[in-house]
Amino acid sequence: MKYIHLPMNVTKVLLLVALTALTGQALAGIRPGEIWPDTKGQHINAHGGGILRYKGTYYWFGEHKSEHTSNALVGINCYSSKDLRRWTPRGVALGVTDERGHDLERGCVMERPKVIYNERTRKFVMYFHLELKGHGYDAARYAVAVSNKPEGPYEYLYSSRSCPGILPLEFGPEEQVALDSLNIDDYKEWWTPQWRRAVAQGLIVKRDLQGGQMSRDMTLYVDTDGRAYHIFSSEENLTLHIAELTEDYLHHSGRYTRLSPVGHNEAPALFRHGDTYWMITSGCTGWAPNEARMFSAPSIWGPWTQHPTPCRGPKSEITFGGQSTYVLTLPDGRHIFMADIWRPKNPIDARYVWLPIDFEDGRPVIQWQSEWEL
Ligand code: GAL
Repeated sequence: MKYIHLPMNVTKVLLLVALTALTGQALAGIRPGEIWPDTKGQHINAHGGGILRYKGTYYWFGEHKSEHTSNALVGINCYSSKDLRRWTPRGVALGVTDERGHDLERGCVMERPKVIYNERTRKFVMYFHLELKGHGYDAARYAVAVSNKPEGPYEYLYSSRSCPGILPLEFGPEEQVALDSLNIDDYKEWWTPQWRRAVAQGLIVKRDLQGGQMSRDMTLYVDTDGRAYHIFSSEENLTLHIAELTEDYLHHSGRYTRLSPVGHNEAPALFRHGDTYWMITSGCTGWAPNEARMFSAPSIWGPWTQHPTPCRGPKSEITFGGQSTYVLTLPDGRHIFMADIWRPKNPIDARYVWLPIDFEDGRPVIQWQSEWEL
């Protein structure tokens, strides 16, 4: 038997071609904005998502979207992966129901799900933005579900507005005097200087005090001390709220702060680098992309300072066509920015933008790359 001796580099290329043929997409890097097939070959269906790392496996939770509507016809999907590149579908973690009048009645809105693990109770806790079927975006509630296993099934617990009857932490006696003088009926016209001042002083916090604060676009964040926070667009999407969770993560503790009053931020994604908390958000233009915003603070309770967009490269002025959803921090301290490129006319075809976060002069920078390796 005769052997053909090939030069080393030719052998390497042949090996790579053979491996790629065997594993399909497996050897490709992460390609922002492209179709991202799961291990069964279907485009991943987990939009507005977030990632949980548990015992060396990553779990990606996101909104199942269909071809004709963004409303929830199925529920919250789960995928798992060891390498963040190849994702195995794990099915529906929390499904809709056909029970009429139920919070999760098919056709409701279930957006931006995030799951965290509670070390004390050993439960996986899911929060998401809920809108009731047939009521547009009026309910503005968060919803909570819980499971003993990361992939679910999750047991639905409740939905609510945030912190009824409670004022933000920073509202001392002086702020309360200002609040007492505000009356929602005096401010019918939006965006006037007087209206801006009144909203900043808590006009809408006061309007919603009894029933609780509005809660729409959201994320969750667990700090190094195990305390968890729910961050969401409140006050008609004009102001972000950061609400601390109870020790079991199942409720708001009642301590909350406001971030960027009248700043009109959505799509919050929070991460920590060293001792600094960073938040990336979007403006409010529905499914259309806009320029990302960035904030930093020395403590989760602020004070928060705004910075220019961290995005660089083509389409950086519209967040590469996407809207932030999550920042994943890897065990080695690197961070990955995750965003959604929405396709409202064919929601299932929405795409994912995942890009590494670098630091320049101590500030996060997200450089566009059409393909990259972890
Ligand atoms: C976006 C928001 C999405 C969804 C959409 C509905 O601004 O980030 O999660 O709510 O509006 O129009």
